Amino acid sequence: MRQIKAVFNGSFDSIENIKVSPFSRAYTFSDSVYEVLPFYNKKLIAFESHILRLQRSVDAINITIDSKKVTDEINQLLSSSDLENGYVYYQVTRGQDLIRSHMYSDQIDIETFGYITPCSFETKKLNVMLCEDTRWGRCDIKSTSLLANVLSMNNAKSHACDEIIMHKDGVLTEAGASNLFFTANENVYTPALTNNILPGITRSILIEALLDSGIKVVEGDFNYNELHKATSAWLTSSTKGMAPIENIINIEHSLSVDDSLYISCKEIFDAKFFI
Ligand code: PDD
Repeated sequence: MRQIKAVFNGSFDSIENIKVSPFSRAYTFSDSVYEVLPFYNKKLIAFESHILRLQRSVDAINITIDSKKVTDEINQLLSSSDLENGYVYYQVTRGQDLIRSHMYSDQIDIETFGYITPCSFETKKLNVMLCEDTRWGRCDIKSTSLLANVLSMNNAKSHACDEIIMHKDGVLTEAGASNLFFTANENVYTPALTNNILPGITRSILIEALLDSGIKVVEGDFNYNELHKATSAWLTSSTKGMAPIENIINIEHSLSVDDSLYISCKEIFDAKFFI
């Protein structure tokens, strides 16, 4: 079996040798943030943007990190691995308390944890389910507190779905672990960035690439009824790349994975992402 290379609090080891205290606030409160950093042909994709977003996440929850150290650890995981394509998971936790307490001690040291794993980035046609967004009010922070996503995605899984599309009071937000795009009237649409959406790095790579190619992208508030009129839709993330939606199981739609605007966007995206 392949050993998973990992790093915990600055020490490199294989994953089975890492011990985490049950008093770690990651364990008791999900008091932690994370990044998923994709690499292709041994090269990290949009590395700086991921480090900047991690910095933004830790700032938002009042944790201090040494981003140079984080960068070195991620690079070392990559250089010590023989994987060509995959991702590095990296998590920063507030630390361990001596007793479980909502109010954290100012004296605790942060815990950091990273590991490297393969990912094929193959484009899968997705079955999705539309559902209500029951998450908290700061989904712009890449927090490990993902219980609402976990529950909704597993409900969708029980209906043979790969993902969900969420809406808050009818307004589309994002998917369970990716951002949403759709096309209609020869335009590309995506929900605007608010506190209810993670500012996806893949989302921003795609938007920039489309704008550079002269394709207009409209960011705004869209009711889920807009999906009835959409000609195609897709999700973006660091591990999915750009994956087309074949079916939304619980609404009427006429989405096509052969839509010409989707195909053009996908070609533009692939040329920018997989280099
Ligand atoms: N998820 N929205 C949510 C809720 C996400 O969890 C993710 C990524 C995205 C896309 O972000 P990016 O393009 O930066 O990967 C949007 C990662 C892959 C995960 O949790 O595994």
